[in-house]
Amino acid sequence: MSDLARKYLHLALGVGLLSLAPLATAAPAIVEACKVCHAEDGSGVGKRIVPVIAGMPAVHIEEALYAYKDGARQCLEEPVMCETAALLTDDNVADLAEYYAAIDRPSLNEDIDAALAALGEPIHKRLCARCHLPPDDPNAAEVLGPPLHGQRADYLSYALESYISGSRENLLDEMKEKISFLDEGDVEALAHYYGSY
Ligand code: HEC
Ligand code: HEC
Repeated sequence: MSDLARKYLHLALGVGLLSLAPLATAAPAIVEACKVCHAEDGSGVGKRIVPVIAGMPAVHIEEALYAYKDGARQCLEEPVMCETAALLTDDNVADLAEYYAAIDRPSLNEDIDAALAALGEPIHKRLCARCHLPPDDPNAAEVLGPPLHGQRADYLSYALESYISGSRENLLDEMKEKISFLDEGDVEALAHYYGSY
């Protein structure tokens, strides 16, 4: 465990004790261990490869946290993410998933190129829409993949490049196949399309 991870845990525990005070918000105390990167509203403002987790169905948040915990998913650029996940109890995971899932996905006000976004839409519809619905779609939690609409464009490029290079394992062969059809222009168009949401 790195000093940084230990520090976040201490913070979380400290606030856990304080939370006996009446000023109760919906946030579980353990969110202290996350907000330095993800922010309390799950938007992760200002951080390039920190994903937006607000409005992600709880099942996907849990899946991701367990994947980091058991090493199936690595933290290539930000080891503290994996070190923090390793410290979470099953109850922490459930509470955090429920908390962040209940927050509406914020608008990031990123620089979106409308022409690129228009190119991305048909690619999404053809190859990706079956498994990736917008976060406010009533079926968003039923499909196989997490919502990508409203996700940070830099994070999407990072995630797609990680799949393409093999540094992040594709859990589904079908997505692996669909991603293999993308060239670099397609990746950029998709990032602008999802970002334009
Ligand atoms: C030091 C910064 C940092 C801290 C602290 C941190 N995260 Fe992360 N988080 C990241 C980064 C960076 C990624 C992307 C990592 C990757 O997959 O390479 C990430 C990824 C995730 C994902 C996967 C999202 C997706 O789209 O697949 C979830 C869920 C998540 N974090 C939740 C949490 C929770 C809950 C906490 C607190 C217990 C936490 N994180 C603490 C930086 C952080
Ligand atoms: C058969 C269903 C399926 C299809 C089709 C599919 N995906 Fe996925 N996708 C998933 C699942 C499941 C995950 C989460 C598990 C994982 O990491 O493999 C995921 C994860 C992702 C992630 C990482 C999200 C995050 O928050 O870290 C990105 C980016 C992504 N998909 C992009 C795409 C794109 C772009 C397409 C179309 C070219 C596509 N997917 C097609 C099922 C699918």
